[in-house]
Parts: sequence; C-alpha cells; structure tokens
Amino acid sequence: MQFRGELDSARIVTVLDDYAGYETSFLAQHGIAILLEASSGGVCKRVLLDAGQSALPILHNLEIMDIDPGSIDAIVVSHCHYDHTEGLVEVLRAVGREGIPVIAHPTMFRPNYIFKPFIRNIGVTGKNGKVAIEEAGGLLVLVDEPFEIMPGVIVTGEVPRRRAFEKQGIGTYNIEGGKVVPDEIRDDLSLTVKVKGKGLAVVSGCSHAGIVNIIDWCREIAAEPRVDLVIGGFHLIEASGERIRETAQALKQLNVGRIVTGHCTGLEALCEFSRILGDRFEQLHVGTTIQL
Ligand SMILES: [Fe+2]
Ligand SMILES: [Fe+2]
Repeated sequence: MQFRGELDSARIVTVLDDYAGYETSFLAQHGIAILLEASSGGVCKRVLLDAGQSALPILHNLEIMDIDPGSIDAIVVSHCHYDHTEGLVEVLRAVGREGIPVIAHPTMFRPNYIFKPFIRNIGVTGKNGKVAIEEAGGLLVLVDEPFEIMPGVIVTGEVPRRRAFEKQGIGTYNIEGGKVVPDEIRDDLSLTVKVKGKGLAVVSGCSHAGIVNIIDWCREIAAEPRVDLVIGGFHLIEASGERIRETAQALKQLNVGRIVTGHCTGLEALCEFSRILGDRFEQLHVGTTIQL
C-alpha cells in the first residue's frame, strides 16, 4: 500500500525528551513526546507522538511554548513502554474532550517483561489500560498496517525488519499460554510526514524496529526516496559498537538530510553520529523545533 498525500507545511516540536537542553527552563524526563503540527488547505492539526511517563513535564513544557494542550487533535502511541505511555491518560484529561483518536498497535496492552535487574512489566499499566483511556476521552484506533491519518501524515503500522544488523531485540519477554517467550516489540510504530516539494520527515519513539528499517519502510509506503529529517529515539543505548557504526553508515548512505536524536539513543551512538554524520547530526532536546 502506498500513500501519496502531501501537506502544505508542518512543524515538529519536541515537548519531552531525556534532555532539557542548554539554558532552558524546560523539564526533562526519561521519555519522549513529539508534537506534529500538520497544515493543509488552511487547516492545522496537532498530532502528539507519545506521552512520556507523566503529563507533568509535558504540560509544563507546553505552557512555556505557549501551546494549549486542548488543541491536540490525536495521539499516536509508538509502542507499549512506560516511558511513552504512562502519561497518556493524564494528557488525555488535559486535552479535555471526548473522542480524541489514540492510535496504536493492537498488541499495545500486552505485558512486556524485563528480568534484569529484577522482573518488571515495562509495558502499559492498568492506569493507562483500554478502559482508562476511553474514560479519559480517548477513542482507540488499533491498527497494525500503515495508514494515513490525514493526507501527508502516515502512521507506519508494524515495520518489516529487513536489515541484518538491526535484527537483535532488547531482551523483553511476554507470557503466552504459561510460557515465557521473547517479545520483539512488534508494536513499534512511527510517523512519516510528507510536505509538498520536500523529502520525508520520519518521527520515531524508540525505534525498536530499527531506525534504518523504519526509514526503509517509510520510503516504501510514502513512495518517496528522499528523507530530509529523522527525529526521535533510536534505542542504541545498549547496542554494540558495530551496530552503531552500521546505523550511522546507513543514515549517511541513505543521504538523510538531518538526524536529530536523543532519548534512548545513548551517549556512544551520539558521539559516533557526530563523528560520522558531522553537521547533519544534532542532539535532540526539549524545545527542538523544526519547520518543514
Ligand atoms: Fe523509550
Ligand atoms: Fe521502548
């Protein structure tokens, strides 16, 4: 399936990240929330990707940026992890309307365990379960395939994992029929945005599907080879040096115009990206705003 819609313009605003930025009064938290303002035909829609661990820093940062949370039109949840979902119901309450689309993968509500340093569910908890989301005004839209939420804004759905160097999972597990099974975080989804006359912008949460797999998939579903921007977390914090280098080389080879990353990307990857990608790389932080 391919989508060829286009926006007149767009703005991407980082509302939450692990880093507040230098000389700012923003609040940081381990988590991410990125606001897309998508304009088409004189209409502007605001789509929030992820909701951090709590609404507190998100609402504080929105206030500093003079953005009314009530103006959010939809929320896309990149995957189940707590640092993307624990703030969801609180953010929905701050939006304060009925029928706010909450777009996510159908398996988002499964438990997702880690066993180090001790057994813990890092997936969605009851306070952000289906019932709580609906009571807070959310309208759940659970999809595993790509679809356009407005012409020019595509939710990737489940991303095919084709690059060999991005095959390794992060060591999370699920329980199925009484058995402990590896969980590859198939629910990992991203956003891609196409503005008239420009290449793609790719907006990711943690990129558990692999950031290069995600870019490959976005180019395919949007029928657009040019990628002007990739922004989000790449989850390379525990990756091998080899994987980090292969990721940087692939971003260079794909000629991605601008790479803005933080959250779970990790210091080693940030340093390597700076070395290999030079001026094309920037560290993500709260307040990073990009006009497309
Ligand atoms: Fe994350
Ligand atoms: Fe994650």
